[in-house]
Amino acid sequence: MTPSFSRRTALGAGLAAGVLAGLVPAGPAASQGVPDDDLSLPSTRLAREAIRLIGEAQEAYLRNHSLRSFLFAREAAAQAGRRPGHDYDEEVVFLICALHDMGLTKRANSDQRFEMDGADFAARFLEERGVTDHRVDTVWDAIAMHTTRSFRDSPVFRRRRPPEIGIAQTGIGIDLMGTNSPVPPGYADRVHRRLPRLGGARAVTDAIEAQALANPRKAPAATLPGEILHQRHPELPYLTWDMLLDANAWGD
Ligand SMILES: [Fe+2]
Repeated sequence: MTPSFSRRTALGAGLAAGVLAGLVPAGPAASQGVPDDDLSLPSTRLAREAIRLIGEAQEAYLRNHSLRSFLFAREAAAQAGRRPGHDYDEEVVFLICALHDMGLTKRANSDQRFEMDGADFAARFLEERGVTDHRVDTVWDAIAMHTTRSFRDSPVFRRRRPPEIGIAQTGIGIDLMGTNSPVPPGYADRVHRRLPRLGGARAVTDAIEAQALANPRKAPAATLPGEILHQRHPELPYLTWDMLLDANAWGD
């Protein structure tokens, strides 16, 4: 069943009409006017609540990145012969993509690196709505690990972990870097026309940097935020591995 998502609801959620036009399927009577089915978003209750949330909490560049990530994830999965509802849970993939950068918003920001803040926020968001533990765990894992590419490169990880994690992370990766994109020619152009990049990967990186500058506890060494802070601000103190070894309580 696909609940409708009215234009009034979209505008009430603070989303620009241009962003949602054609992205969230309308009711049956209006669906004839919706072009580009492969650019539509899920319209389940949870999906609509997630869209409303990011419409309120995220700036346009970040919201567009989150939504594009889902479109790329689903298209890349389709190109690999994986079907939503059969090979993976489309709603879970959407929730991962939509919520994966909530840690970069004021709503979820705390003293943890943004990946953890985002994962914890997403878990609470889903728990409050009665989502099953298994699905919450999948979303948490995917968001917490989304900046560590090597996880999804492992064949055993891909085989043993829920497929939604790899599918969502692939979409996030495509949207961030665009390289070796397994989507058909022209698809990315249509996605970008609907959801402009507005600074894209550099805007996301700037947000990570700003959080780290404001609170260095959000940028521990050997994490993506830690690397971004170190590389962009080599003048700031940086804890190397050898410095940690020097403090080794065993003395070796
Ligand atoms: Fe992201």
